[in-house]
Amino acid sequence: MSDYIGAIDQGTTSTRFMVFDHGGNEIARHQLEHEQILPRAGWVEHNPTEIWERTRAVIQSTLTKASLDASDLAAVGVTNQRETTVVWNRRTGRPYCNAIVWQDTRTDRIAADLERDGHGDTIRHKAGLPPATYFSGGKLRWIFDNVPGVAEDAEKGEALFGTTDSWLLWNLTGGVDGGQHVTDVTNASRTMLMDLETCDWDDELLAIFGVPRAMLPRILPSSNPDFFGTTRADGPFGGEIPLAGDLGDQQAATVGQVCFRPGEAKNTYGTGNFLLLNTGHEIVRSRHGLLTTVCYQFGDAKPTYALEGSIAVTGSAVQWLRDQLGIISGAAQSESLASQVTDNGGVYFVPAFSGLFAPHWRSDARGAIVGLSRYSTNAHVARATLEAICYQTRDVVDAMQADSGVTLDVLRVDGGVTANSLCMQLQADILGVPVSRPVVAETTALGAAYAAGLAVGFWDTPEELVQNWNEDVRWQPTWSEEQRERGHARWKKAVERTLDWID
Ligand code: G3P
Repeated sequence: MSDYIGAIDQGTTSTRFMVFDHGGNEIARHQLEHEQILPRAGWVEHNPTEIWERTRAVIQSTLTKASLDASDLAAVGVTNQRETTVVWNRRTGRPYCNAIVWQDTRTDRIAADLERDGHGDTIRHKAGLPPATYFSGGKLRWIFDNVPGVAEDAEKGEALFGTTDSWLLWNLTGGVDGGQHVTDVTNASRTMLMDLETCDWDDELLAIFGVPRAMLPRILPSSNPDFFGTTRADGPFGGEIPLAGDLGDQQAATVGQVCFRPGEAKNTYGTGNFLLLNTGHEIVRSRHGLLTTVCYQFGDAKPTYALEGSIAVTGSAVQWLRDQLGIISGAAQSESLASQVTDNGGVYFVPAFSGLFAPHWRSDARGAIVGLSRYSTNAHVARATLEAICYQTRDVVDAMQADSGVTLDVLRVDGGVTANSLCMQLQADILGVPVSRPVVAETTALGAAYAAGLAVGFWDTPEELVQNWNEDVRWQPTWSEEQRERGHARWKKAVERTLDWID
């Protein structure tokens, strides 16, 4: 068998390709950003054609850098930003419009109407999701209503829907020339169109959104011994490789963090934060504002489910300090600037740019910086930004403990923001539990590689993967209980100030 596994990680801001060895160690990678298209306040789009071009480029650059070719890869896994909605034509291969990104809030009216028309409970029960702008179903409805020709072509099965995994898998397996129109159960669980119990598209949900089955991809297990398809010799790999793994990026990170037992959780710090708690084969329905989602399905085993706390804006708040306020020149500087002060000076920043996701689900909220005085400086705002990442996580952890009865004794973390030591120290202080980061912090791509490798026998069992996990750093809480609760009470007051802002 070949020595390596490849993983494509198609994220919100960039696409990367990575190669791993049997020990889960990184061999090579290349990464390219794509344009964030912001046509109006609240709208966020990506160009699917650009994403496919970037994907081809990162694959080719990685293979060249490491002097590898298709024969060195036993399998390839795909992982992706979830919910982002692409619709393309089966015959031309062209998208009908830009992809509508998960952060986009243009469907707030559609989400409100679903609740008004009494569909909220059906969607919550069957799909495990609240009616919100976040998920694909409403985005697809918006495309039907606003992009000429899509609704008619969808009925005929000419217009195809997919999240970005489906778009890439279709292109990698031949596109207009016999491409496979497929997705996995974790990505399907983010559309509002799949029933968590049957793991199939659900007629009642499809009728609510007016989506014809003919445009939907086949739902397959995340780790699939029968493959999602095979790469083409005339494609970016230059050879035929099994595409054997596919899962949403947050579920992939959960697999990469080897959270295979019920009660194990991870928190990924990217543009947003996503905390997933493995609940085993049990579908736990949240009473505290969390989502119920599929965590992974390996082969023909029963699906494993998770409770998820999704936070829309965390790392992207740091980007906002850089791009919109201009008070830092790069993400790393948020740490040095925030370190110039020993506390937040009473300043709290609630970055509710896309409304508030878990556990509040308030699309009427907008961001606020409160507690400013003449004494406040850029450093206090930077520190409040890092604290906002941690307080939002605290709210989600509280909800998770209330829903599941599981008390976290350590929080496993990964993602770009975990390079910020001050932020991770603040996280331990604000939660009151230790925070642990593994040696391989690229857990998302690693999880996709694990799913693909398990399918082809590169790894035999999930238990084998647990041996690959090693701790790199552990941050211990230092704040007193009184300090922690005082800070959290102020934060909750700040959150109140952001609500009811949009009519
Ligand atoms: O649900 C959205 C999530 O999948 C996006 O993750 O890492 O691309 O920001 P990321």
